[in-house]
Amino acid sequence: MPGSLPATAEASWPKDVGIVSLEIYFPSQYVDQVELEKFDGVDAGKYTIGLGQSKMGFCSDREDINSLCLTVVQRLMERNNISYDCIGRLEVGTETIIDKSKSVKTVLMQLFEDSGNTDVEGIDTTNACYGGTAALFNAVNWVESSSWDGRYALVVAGDIAVYATGSARPTGGAGAVAMLVGPNATLILERGVRGTHMQHAYDFYKPDMVSEYPVVDGKLSIQCYLGALDRCYSTYRSKIHAQWQKEGNEEPFTLNDFGYMIFHSPYCKLVQKSLARLLLNDFIGDPNPNTESGVYGGLDSFRHVKLEDTYFDRDVEKAFMKASAELFNEKTKASLLVSNQNGNMYTPSVYGCLASVLALYSPQQLAGQRIGVFSYGSGFAATLYSIKVTQDATPGSSLDKLTSSLCDLKARLDSRRSVAPSIFAENMKLRQHTHHLASYIPQGSVDNLFPGTWYLVRVDEKHRRYYARSSVLDDGPLEAVLEPVRSSTASEHIPSPAKKVPRIPAATEAGPVAVSNGEH
Ligand code: ACO
Repeated sequence: MPGSLPATAEASWPKDVGIVSLEIYFPSQYVDQVELEKFDGVDAGKYTIGLGQSKMGFCSDREDINSLCLTVVQRLMERNNISYDCIGRLEVGTETIIDKSKSVKTVLMQLFEDSGNTDVEGIDTTNACYGGTAALFNAVNWVESSSWDGRYALVVAGDIAVYATGSARPTGGAGAVAMLVGPNATLILERGVRGTHMQHAYDFYKPDMVSEYPVVDGKLSIQCYLGALDRCYSTYRSKIHAQWQKEGNEEPFTLNDFGYMIFHSPYCKLVQKSLARLLLNDFIGDPNPNTESGVYGGLDSFRHVKLEDTYFDRDVEKAFMKASAELFNEKTKASLLVSNQNGNMYTPSVYGCLASVLALYSPQQLAGQRIGVFSYGSGFAATLYSIKVTQDATPGSSLDKLTSSLCDLKARLDSRRSVAPSIFAENMKLRQHTHHLASYIPQGSVDNLFPGTWYLVRVDEKHRRYYARSSVLDDGPLEAVLEPVRSSTASEHIPSPAKKVPRIPAATEAGPVAVSNGEH
């Protein structure tokens, strides 16, 4: 067959390609969902119990997609002591578009300047929340291909998820995840078993080029998500079953074969329903389920339901949520830490779930496990794939280092500042009115950013964006980075810090041309 691989190709592929290290960034401020329920005038419990969300991270006008990605990449490189020379490919997955031509990737190339390394393939990928997964697959495929030059690939998924006022607003969030990809990885992407489903739908899309807000058909988006999950799981299971058969194993693949199962998380309740749905898939696919006792006990009346009839079937949902409650606690609940505390980050959402699992379980609990990953992006594109964690959990092993690098995740989430819903709403208005303005100086305070956060300094008359970085040092009194950027209106939008924040003695700046402090 033309283009088919020679029989010996597999032998020469780099071994165990996957994620070597992972870094996550989220904004230092959030709005509490209990307070948001009151502010929005909805019934108590709608956002917290109904959607399963506790807090929602958001950005002022100081942060945009470029700054989020700059922050997370530099953090990954610094914390892992990696030289920019070692990167041969850089991919960005995002749906936060601030330029119809220039990619975020090329903005990130500013971080590479001192190294002199410009030999870096890859560019941006967009399809709603799926872009990060597409970028990861591109990176893994590159390492496994004839184009690979022996260096690492770097994958960045970042987004600012904001909605117009209304029912979708509490499902926002913001953040970025960076992943270093290479051979002999700690988190190995299993080969040949990805289950993908792509289809046309207008469930969530962004046709208005000057608005950050999407057009959303909430109910349709849930139906597309669940339908895609069914299709991807079915394809994944048949591919892995075929692999197992070659090895002489005739057992069907079930949810039990995942040590952990993570999902793109628009809101936590949908993830819990999704885990239940995988059990429903297993149940329907089982030729002879035991409905007398065990996990399928009492489910006999659902034996002949059709998956496509059950997206909003309350009886099916309730029964399988109950049946899968223990599986949810074992395999999925911990992965929702970032999602519950920061909201939907869009492309990084599922990788925030991965970070949560790595942060909350010990190397011993993770070693050798298969992590199922379901990635969904509206429009729509979805894949269910799996990661195999390396076996070695000894102190100093790559797994030990990876989990250690994320062990401060909960403390970082807890250290954020709570901002009143009225201030959050003002921020949304400010972003709405200033999004895409030229000759613009952002109004948000830079006082409360996490150390080492890149932020927008100004947008010039040609829409060129200039950034600075808050100090990575964490001592000394509060100090502004660039004097005039702290306008008097800033404090109206972001309240003063409750406690002293790190000293920012000097800014590192990046922009299309060098900007001196005096210019601001
Ligand atoms: N106490 C407890 N639960 C409550 C309460 C209450 N006081 N009030 C409502 N609820 C429950 C509802 O019963 C419902 O539960 P259910 O989903 O199990 O039926 C849940 O809270 C949400 O209430 P709804 O009335 O269904 O919410 P609404 O329709 O107003 O909005 C939606 C929900 C559609 C998810 C909306 O937030 C949205 O459009 N979000 C963006 C789209 C999205 O995230 N889609 C998911 C996939 S695509 C993507 O990732 C962007």
